[in-house]
Amino acid sequence: MLGGRKPLVGLDIGSSAVKAVELTRTGDAYAITGFAQAPLGSDALIDGAIANAAAVSRAVESVFASGRFKTRRVAANVAGHGVIVKRVVLPDDASRAGPLGFDAAPYLPFDVSEVDVDYAVIGPSGGGGPGVDAVLAAARKAQVRACLDAVTTAGRVPAVLDVGALALQNAFEVNHDSAPDATVALLDVGAALTSVNIARGGWPLLIRYVSFGGRRWTEILQQELRLEADEAEGLKAGKQVGVLDVETAAPLLDSVTDLLVSEVRRTFAFFTESFPDEAIASIYLAGGGSRTPGVARKFQAAFGIEVRGMDPLRAVRVGSKADAGVRGSGPALAVALGLAMRGFDA
Ligand SMILES: Nc1ncnc2c1ncn2[C@@H]1O[C@H](COP(=O)(O)OP(=O)(O)OP(=O)(O)O)[C@@H](O)[C@H]1O
Ligand SMILES: [Mg+2]
Repeated sequence: MLGGRKPLVGLDIGSSAVKAVELTRTGDAYAITGFAQAPLGSDALIDGAIANAAAVSRAVESVFASGRFKTRRVAANVAGHGVIVKRVVLPDDASRAGPLGFDAAPYLPFDVSEVDVDYAVIGPSGGGGPGVDAVLAAARKAQVRACLDAVTTAGRVPAVLDVGALALQNAFEVNHDSAPDATVALLDVGAALTSVNIARGGWPLLIRYVSFGGRRWTEILQQELRLEADEAEGLKAGKQVGVLDVETAAPLLDSVTDLLVSEVRRTFAFFTESFPDEAIASIYLAGGGSRTPGVARKFQAAFGIEVRGMDPLRAVRVGSKADAGVRGSGPALAVALGLAMRGFDA
């Protein structure tokens, strides 16, 4: 996670669309100096990993052709079950010098030869024992390579490679003031995936990718109401479709939201097992799927804690170059914005 003080294009290759945002920063204020997105077919990504490289390359090239960005430097992301982020206690001598100052194998559910590994040391072990607290991130080499290839094929320079759920946390921290000791659950409900990042004090405690996204709500509306995909998308977003409106669709949407709630409940239970002294104070929702009617209400009822929509544009001035498209996409741009903000990491 190489940061810097130079503008970057945040490039979020998501299951439903490629989103690209360029930010500049003056003082504490960010401004969008370029924005573009291009849709992807449902076969382009599988479980967050690029499956149809040609289709993704076309979409990436199209965002760079239309976005009129000033910089060629890109911050891109990887996501899904090929990516693991976890808190670990590393040996005291784990150093940033050299490849890895320790054997990562015991920490990972992957064959270490198949993954790229990175880590950041947080500080002396909070448990009081030897070693240092750290965050370890690993991603399948093939997935990393496909992502970098998509950037270089478009003639851009991959300057930063991040995990989507960590970029989400970055966007959260820039835009929302949260007490440093508050534990928050940051959810990115995408089209095919939902990431859960439970974080405190600027560091993730637990990150999980769940196979659930906006497509599930679309599919139930298609099946039960015999709609085309675009009609179901419209209905979800509040459009009237024939005699149907979002009120009629509510019970169907809610039944699918219940599935997401149970997945998140499982993740929270695992979190409580791993961190018995921690309590989640609030939930922040981002991602296009979080706009599905009733989601915040259902989460509020299920977990009984504060549920808020993440606003990745709170600290960002939307310049004239970026049209209404930016505001229209709102929470779906959280990851792209968090990636672009890596250009200005302290
Ligand atoms: N107004 C809306 N109401 C309900 N759902 C919406 C709305 N706008 C977008 N969506 C849904 O959001 C999803 C896309 O969100 P997003 O762009 O965050 O996903 P992605 O990044 O492409 O996918 P993933 O993160 O799963 O790889 C789609 O399923 C879409 O139907
Ligand atoms: Mg996404």
